[in-house]
Amino acid sequence: MLTCQKNLFSLPDRLHYLNCAFMAPMARSVEEAGVAGVRQRRDPSSIQIEDFFEASGRLRALFGQLIHAPADSVAIIPSASYGIATMAANLPVEQGDRILVLDEQFPSNVYAWRRKAAETGATLITVGPGEGTRDRATRWNERILEAIDKRTAVVAVPHIHWTDGTLFDLEAIARRAREAGAALVVDGTQSVGALPFDVGRIRPDAVICAGYKWLLGPYSLGLAYYDERWHGGRPLEENWITRENSEQLSAIVDYRDRYHPGAIRFDMGERSNFVLVPMLAAALKIVLDLTPAAIQAYCRNLTRPLARSANELGFLIEPPETRAHHLFGLRSKDPGGMAPDRLRDSLGRRGITVSARGSAIRISPHAYNDERDIQALVEALRAARGASD
Ligand SMILES: Cc1ncc(COP(=O)(O)O)c(C=O)c1O
Repeated sequence: MLTCQKNLFSLPDRLHYLNCAFMAPMARSVEEAGVAGVRQRRDPSSIQIEDFFEASGRLRALFGQLIHAPADSVAIIPSASYGIATMAANLPVEQGDRILVLDEQFPSNVYAWRRKAAETGATLITVGPGEGTRDRATRWNERILEAIDKRTAVVAVPHIHWTDGTLFDLEAIARRAREAGAALVVDGTQSVGALPFDVGRIRPDAVICAGYKWLLGPYSLGLAYYDERWHGGRPLEENWITRENSEQLSAIVDYRDRYHPGAIRFDMGERSNFVLVPMLAAALKIVLDLTPAAIQAYCRNLTRPLARSANELGFLIEPPETRAHHLFGLRSKDPGGMAPDRLRDSLGRRGITVSARGSAIRISPHAYNDERDIQALVEALRAARGASD
């Protein structure tokens, strides 16, 4: 059983940071890796040609280990939107086809599909949870399965909803997508790292992750898995390093048509970033060391008292089986209750950081949180409720 890991981080003592879904705090080892990367540039002659290849190779391997995928199926990307744009550019979609997304899905996994639909004459289908709060997640999952049929070319969904943690049954969705001949593109930004993800079980076409949340990495570097059936695809940009034999720097103007094998062709330009790559690698080592399963179990235990008192505090929360434990929403039962952004601000004044998303406040703990953070939150919610009564 995991114990609190606050010592790995430099969070201020009086802060109750319950907002990893916004941005992870920087672990000490990640910060050190970044500082070492910056310092290395004092003397550029210390950067060798191998440095352009080896650290990025290790990063691919670490992410592959995390999602149980081969390292050569991993590409280095700057953002989730970039990784999704790569898939949107490569998936065959025709007039009359359907592209499925979810209600209030994160925009980086919507705009690319809106454009794809507009360019091809396909229709973007948005599946919502339907009316009512009872069995909301179960109903939402059923509605997704019902919406996938022979007309569906792409299912572009997350593992959990970024606003309230609703869990989507990706194995069932993937099965239905395969039966229908549709591609499955998963935005793992709000789940991979804190919730186990197994490429072998789900068999998605792509899994895209920004690195600065549950991968605990820096901003502006992410990772993507692309299944081997797409490895012959077209990258968004053409850079020298992704081409075959690019290790031979002196021969890079012997232009080549072939790429390095696997998903490397989808790497962003300057993917060898000597500051960000070692930072993300150090971050992934922490995640792999703690393990997503243990992080999830830790968050579940930690937030159990909050989930129990949510009702008494006047909030609706999804039942534990149908939501994540590292990210979940609290919605006021009273439609006239304190607006989520006012509630967030009132918590903020007590040193508690959460987000307001849609009609909910979003709580997103990690292994650096402890019982004091949850107690402080419960007390602050009680006080806020008293103030609004
Ligand atoms: C579900 C989800 N996907 C992606 C992102 C980030 O996207 P991008 O890297 O394109 O800025 C976020 C940020 O909050 C998110 O919540």
